[in-house]
Amino acid sequence: MPLKPLPSEAPSMRALVVDDSASSLANLTRLVEEACALTCVPFTDPYAALDAAATGAFDLVLVDYVMPGLDGIALTRRLRALPGYEQIPIVMITTSLNERVRIEALEAGATDFLSKTPDAAEVRARLRNMASLSAALRRLNDQAAWLAREVEAATRRLLDREAEIIFRLSLAVEYRDNDTGGHTYRVARYSALLAEELGLPPAACRSIFLAAPLHDVGKVAVPDAVLLKAGRLDPGEFAVIREHAAIGERILGGSTSDLIQLAAEIAGAHHERWDGKGYPRGLRGRLIPLPARIVAIADVFDALTTVRPYKTALTEDEAFAYIASERGGHFDPTCVDAFLAARRKIEAAKHERPDIEVVAAQQQTAA
Ligand SMILES: [Fe+2]
Repeated sequence: MPLKPLPSEAPSMRALVVDDSASSLANLTRLVEEACALTCVPFTDPYAALDAAATGAFDLVLVDYVMPGLDGIALTRRLRALPGYEQIPIVMITTSLNERVRIEALEAGATDFLSKTPDAAEVRARLRNMASLSAALRRLNDQAAWLAREVEAATRRLLDREAEIIFRLSLAVEYRDNDTGGHTYRVARYSALLAEELGLPPAACRSIFLAAPLHDVGKVAVPDAVLLKAGRLDPGEFAVIREHAAIGERILGGSTSDLIQLAAEIAGAHHERWDGKGYPRGLRGRLIPLPARIVAIADVFDALTTVRPYKTALTEDEAFAYIASERGGHFDPTCVDAFLAARRKIEAAKHERPDIEVVAAQQQTAA
C-alpha cells in the first residue's frame, strides 16, 4: 500500500500555555513563538485551560508548576486523562530543582522541565526539540488514522465482493433448478425479516440475508433426471435429492470466511426439523443452528406460496396457517411466533423484485 503523501500545508500547530502570572505568561508566550512555529493560546486560569484542551487539540502544553487552585502537577494529571493527550509533550515550568517535585511531575505525565529563570538559548533549543517531537507525533497519528481508514475501506470492498459473489453463485444454482422466479432472493429476505423479528443484532440479520441464498447449493450435484423430474419422485430419488443438504455443507465447509461458514451451516441443516425427524442428521430442537431454523421456515413458506411445475400455490392465509400448524413439529416454536408476528413485512417482501440491484441496495442499507 502506498504511503499517504504528506499535505503541503499542514494546519498550524498550537501550544497551550498556562501560568497564573500574566507577566510570566506573556514572557513565556513570546519565547515559545520566537523559538518555534507554534501559535500560543495563553491562559492564566488552569481550569479554563483544561476546558480549552477538552474541546480543542493542542500539539504542545506548557504549564506553570505553582498555581493557586490547580497546580501544574494536578493540571498535568487531568490533561493526560483527556482523549488525545496521552502522548502530547507537556513541559512544566518550575524554579524548583527539588527532586521530589520533579519525580512527582514526571509521574503525573510531564515530558520535560523548563526553568522559570531561563537561559534563553537553552530554552529555545529545548522548545524547538519539543515542537519537533510534537510535529512527528502529529504526522504519525495522521498516518495511522489514514491507514486505519484505508484498511476499513478495503475490508468493506472485500466484504461487498464476497457478498456479491455469493449472491451470483446462488443465482447459478437457481438456474440449475429451473427456478428463476426469485426463490433464492425471497428466502433470503424472509429469513432476514424473521431474524430481525427475533431481535438478532443487525449484523447477524445481514449475514443471514447474505448466506441464506446458498442453502440449496448442493443441488448442483443432483442429476437432472431427479432434480428436474416433473412427476412424483420414488423413494430412491428422494434419497438422492436429500443429499443436497450434506453436499452443500461440504461445498461450503472449511472456509475461513465467517459468511461462508454461516452459509455452510445453513446449507447443512436447513432440512432438519425441530422434532428431530429431518435430515441429514436428524438433529432436534436447539441442536439445530438458529440460522438454519430460520431459513427452514422461509424456505418452506416460499415453496408453499409459489407455483411449481408439479403443484399450485397455497394462498398466503393457507401458508401461514401451515407454518403455525408446524409450531414445535417441523419448526422452532419461537421462530414460528416471530414469523407470524412479521406477517405484514413478509407479505410485502413477497412482491419485491429479486434482481441484483435490489440486493445491492439491501446490502447498502443493511451495512
Ligand atoms: Fe433445500
